[in-house]
Amino acid sequence: MSLNLVTLLYLLASVCFIQALKGLSHPTTSIRGNLFGMVGMTIAGLTTAALIVKLADGNAFGLSYVLAGLVIGGGLGAYMANKVEMTKMPELVAFMHSMIGLAAVFIAATAVLEPAAFGITVAGSSTIPGGNRVELALGAFIGAVTFSGSVIAFGKLSGKYKFRLFQGAPVSFTGQHKLNLALGLAAVVSCYGFWETQSWAAFNTILVIGFALGVLLIIPIGGADMPVVVSMLNSYSGWAAAGIGFSLNNSMLIIAGSLVGSSGAILSYIMCKAMNRSFFNVIGGGFGGDTTSAAAGGAVQRNVKSGSADDAAFVLSNAETVIIVPGYGLAVARAQHAVKELAQKLTDHGVTVKYAIHPVAGRMPGHMNVLLAEAEVPYDQVFEMEDINAEFGQADVAIILGANDVVNPAAHVKGSPIYGMPILEAFKAKTVIVNKRSMAAGYAGLDNELFYMDKTMMVFGDAKKVVEDMVKAVE
Ligand code: TAP
Repeated sequence: MSLNLVTLLYLLASVCFIQALKGLSHPTTSIRGNLFGMVGMTIAGLTTAALIVKLADGNAFGLSYVLAGLVIGGGLGAYMANKVEMTKMPELVAFMHSMIGLAAVFIAATAVLEPAAFGITVAGSSTIPGGNRVELALGAFIGAVTFSGSVIAFGKLSGKYKFRLFQGAPVSFTGQHKLNLALGLAAVVSCYGFWETQSWAAFNTILVIGFALGVLLIIPIGGADMPVVVSMLNSYSGWAAAGIGFSLNNSMLIIAGSLVGSSGAILSYIMCKAMNRSFFNVIGGGFGGDTTSAAAGGAVQRNVKSGSADDAAFVLSNAETVIIVPGYGLAVARAQHAVKELAQKLTDHGVTVKYAIHPVAGRMPGHMNVLLAEAEVPYDQVFEMEDINAEFGQADVAIILGANDVVNPAAHVKGSPIYGMPILEAFKAKTVIVNKRSMAAGYAGLDNELFYMDKTMMVFGDAKKVVEDMVKAVE
C-alpha cells in the first residue's frame, strides 16, 4: 500500500467523520450520520492495519495484539452502550472520555520509552526531535487531566458512590485556586524539563501533575454542571488525541482529534448559552451542587392547586391547542410512548398538539429529541424553544411533564441563580398542567413560582402512570 493511497483513504475517512457530525445534528439524519461514522472508522482502522503491515515489512505479529484489543474493547463498548439507559448516558460518555485520556497517556509513554518503534528518532540515535517532545508532553498532560477529571465526573454523575469526591456537592478548600495555579506552573516547568532532557522522570512528573489537576479542577464543580464538564472533557480528549497524532505523524488522528476537540468545545458553548452561564462561571463551580435542598423542605410550605389525571384529561380534551413540555422526569419515568399515545388521542379529538423542547431539558444535549424520536413522535410536531415560545400565549393548555428548571419563571427575576437563562414560557398559556411526583426542586435546586399560579393544576405521580391514566380518561 503506497503512502499516497494511505493519505487518500484517511481523507475519505475524514470526510465520513465530517458527514457523521453533520448528520448527527438533526434526528431525521442521525441514523445516516451514525452510519457515516461507522464507515469512516472502518476505513481508518483497516488503513492503519494495512499501514502497520507495510511498515513492518509484512512481519506484523504485533498487530494481533491490536486486533485482540479491538475485539475486547469493541465488545465491551457494544455491551455497555446496549445496556445503558438514556438517563445514564452522560456517565457512559464520561467513562469513555476517561479511557481516551488514558489511551493518550499510554501511547505517549510508550513513544517516550521506545521512540524508534514509532519512527520518531533523530537518525541513528534514540533522541526524539524537540518538536515531537513538546507534542508528547502536551498530549500526555492533557490525557492525564482528561482521565482523572472524567473519573470524578463519572462518580458525580452516577451519584452511587459514598466517596466524598464523587458526591454531587462541590468540594472546595482554602487556597484551592492557588494550588491549581502552582500545579499549572509546575506542569509548564516539567514540560520544559522533558523538552530539554527527554528524561523519563520529567515525563512522569508531567503525568502526576496532570492526574492531580484533573481531580482538583473537577471536584469544585456541582453535579448540575457535570454535563457541560463532560462535554468540555470530550473536547480535551480530542485535543489530546490530535497532539499524539502530531507526534506519530498520523494525519487521521490529527483530523479526528481536532473534530472531537472542536465539536466538544462548541457543544460546551451551546450548553452554557442555553443556561445563560459563562464557561468560566461553570468552571468556577458551585451551581446546583445540592439538588435536593429545596426538596428537603428548605422552601416554605405553600398551597398549590392539585387535580387528578382525569381532571387533567378533561381540560386537555376540551382544549383547541396543547403544548407538551417534556423534561428530565419524563425520561426517568420512560413515559415517552404513553405521551405519544396521549397526543394521538388528543389529535383524534381535534386538538392541535405540539411539543416544546428546551436545549438543556434532560441531562444531555438532544435528550428530549432522542426520547421523542424513540416513541416515533412525528418531527413536524416537535419545536425548538425559539420557534415555539411565541405560541404559549395563544395555547389553551401547556402540559409540563417532569420538567422544572426549563419552565421556571425565576429565570426572569434579577438575583435568581438562573437569572437570564432562556426558558420555555409555559407560564403564558391559558391553563398550565404540571406533572411531577412531589414539590421537590429541579436540578438547579430552586423553587418554581409556576407551580403556585392560579391557572396551574399540579397532577402528582410518576409521569408514566399519570399519562397512562390520562390516556384512559380521554377515551
Ligand atoms: P429538572 O429541572 O431536573 O426537573 C425534573 C423534574 O422531574 C423534577 O423536578 C422532578 O420532580 C421530576 N421528576 C423526576 N422523576 C419523575 C418521574 N418519575 N415522574 C414525574 N416527574 C419526575 O429537569 P429539566 O426541567 O428537564 O431541566 C434540566 C436541568 O438540567 C436544567 O437545570 C439544566 O440546566 C440542567 N442541565 C442540563 C443539561 C443538558 S445538556 N440537558 C446540561 C447541564 C445541565 P419530582 O422529584 O417532584 O418528581
